[in-house]
Amino acid sequence: MPVGHIELGGVTYRLPDGRELLRDVGFRVGDGAKVALVGTNGSGKTTLLRIIAGDIPPHSGSVVRSGGLGVMRQFVGTGRGVSTVRDLLASVAAPALVAAYGELRAASQGMHAGEAAQLRYASALVHWGEVGGYDAEVFWDECCTRTLGLPYEAAADRDVMTLSGGEQKKLVLEALLRGPDEVLLLDEPDNYLDVPGKRWLESRLADSAKTILYVSHDRELLARTAEQIITIEASTAWVYGGGFASYHDARSDRHARFEELHRRWDDERRKLADLVKRLQLAKSPKTQAAVTRLQRHEQREPELPPRSQNIRMRLSGGRTGVRVLTCSRLALTGLTAPFDLEVFYGDRVAVLGANGTGKSHFLRLLAGWPETDSVKHSGDWKLGARVVPGHFSQTHEHPELTDRTLLQILWDDCALRMEQAAPALHRYDLTGAREQTFGTLSGGQQARFQILLLELSGATLLILDEPTDNLDVASAEALEAALEEFDGTVIAVTHDRWFTRSFERFVLFGADETVREAAEPVWHQ
Ligand SMILES: Nc1ncnc2c1ncn2[C@@H]1O[C@H](COP(=O)(O)OP(=O)(O)OP(=O)(O)O)[C@@H](O)[C@H]1O
Ligand SMILES: [Mg+2]
Repeated sequence: MPVGHIELGGVTYRLPDGRELLRDVGFRVGDGAKVALVGTNGSGKTTLLRIIAGDIPPHSGSVVRSGGLGVMRQFVGTGRGVSTVRDLLASVAAPALVAAYGELRAASQGMHAGEAAQLRYASALVHWGEVGGYDAEVFWDECCTRTLGLPYEAAADRDVMTLSGGEQKKLVLEALLRGPDEVLLLDEPDNYLDVPGKRWLESRLADSAKTILYVSHDRELLARTAEQIITIEASTAWVYGGGFASYHDARSDRHARFEELHRRWDDERRKLADLVKRLQLAKSPKTQAAVTRLQRHEQREPELPPRSQNIRMRLSGGRTGVRVLTCSRLALTGLTAPFDLEVFYGDRVAVLGANGTGKSHFLRLLAGWPETDSVKHSGDWKLGARVVPGHFSQTHEHPELTDRTLLQILWDDCALRMEQAAPALHRYDLTGAREQTFGTLSGGQQARFQILLLELSGATLLILDEPTDNLDVASAEALEAALEEFDGTVIAVTHDRWFTRSFERFVLFGADETVREAAEPVWHQ
């Protein structure tokens, strides 16, 4: 199979507010290499992938590609025009299929409106066949069977939102990895995957002959898969030709080199400044020449290593009744068998289990309190005295937040004036984004801001659905530290083995519909 490539040279990209997000970015990815793209939240990874995919043009520089390109977005499944499994699969198909599919969909909606509309539908169907639509459906059938255990016919019309986050990702990954494109761009493909899912992805990446550029914050996945690592920091990209095991040393060496260069530059600057002073005092005719030299030198200041992030989350909580949650014979309709569960004040409960076993539904049910019927179930459940749930949800669809700026949201929803909002945003490293609308934040910045809203809500029971997905390493550590301090109870769904270490109770949602407690985290059932 011919393997395609991507080559960037001198790529520069400015944000709408004028800030330079990417400067002089250049690298080559080809020959079936598996290359990781890493960087802190908001550093520009998703933007760079969008530039490579041709969604947005860079302000300068070149992007050259060969081979068919398949793209998986960070929030796959939440895009416009994607409501069914069929739409989801079509959204990652070849461009000709995407266009034919769009026409077919539009035509089918007006099908009952008379002869012209029926003709349009008929010709859309013919076109669908011509561009290979039926072959694609055979292929999709294989993908659905492999990842969902359902034939395409049974899955096609299902609402995507009824698939778990992990199932959506697996389905799209299967279609891309098994599909014809030689080059793949994958933006955080491991988010929401359960642990066996992550293992599956690791081996699929390793076995694939394709050229793959992917973003991930998962250190374990990076260690097992990356042949090269491209880092975006301080608005530019640098390439490390080795794997993750030696990456940290390479990065520290690089930073040390920057510091050394800067130190030498600073020494020289001081010497020149002294010289200028001496010449000035002596009223020497050489003064002007020395001033010019100093000015030239100052313009050539080498960059400093990027500052490290300092994120501080402050979840305060408060005392509640001892019994925080009581479930008796609770069964989530179609998802779990009846189970009993009691959670006490101060507990740290990790909810574990494979993708699609109902964990998010359970959390959504709890978050709906005092409404007890927000998710279909039988049996009883209740929250205790003074228990105020605060929900961090996996879906990043927040229509109520999308079009408001961070300062507006903090003012409208939390009555925070500028003097209070500014330090809070600072602690979450969101100062630069405060005039941006929520919808324009990067995935990790959105996650961080949602945690800030939780902090401000005064919740005493945190209900967190995969909170560390999308977060960079520094933010995940800040969250862990904040949870440690939190005076209250935490119930969190997670597939993050490292994050789970700070929990002490483990509730397993089994593939056999049982819900039971375990003494240790269980990842493979
Ligand atoms: N309209 C806008 N105005 C100002 N800044 C914007 C706008 N749209 C995006 N940005 C900023 O661009 C930056 C890059 O976002 P991008 O999504 O590429 O980051 P990322 O590296 O993928 O982060 P993450 O790890 O969180 O997914 C972010 O700081 C984001 O806030
Ligand atoms: Mg991103």
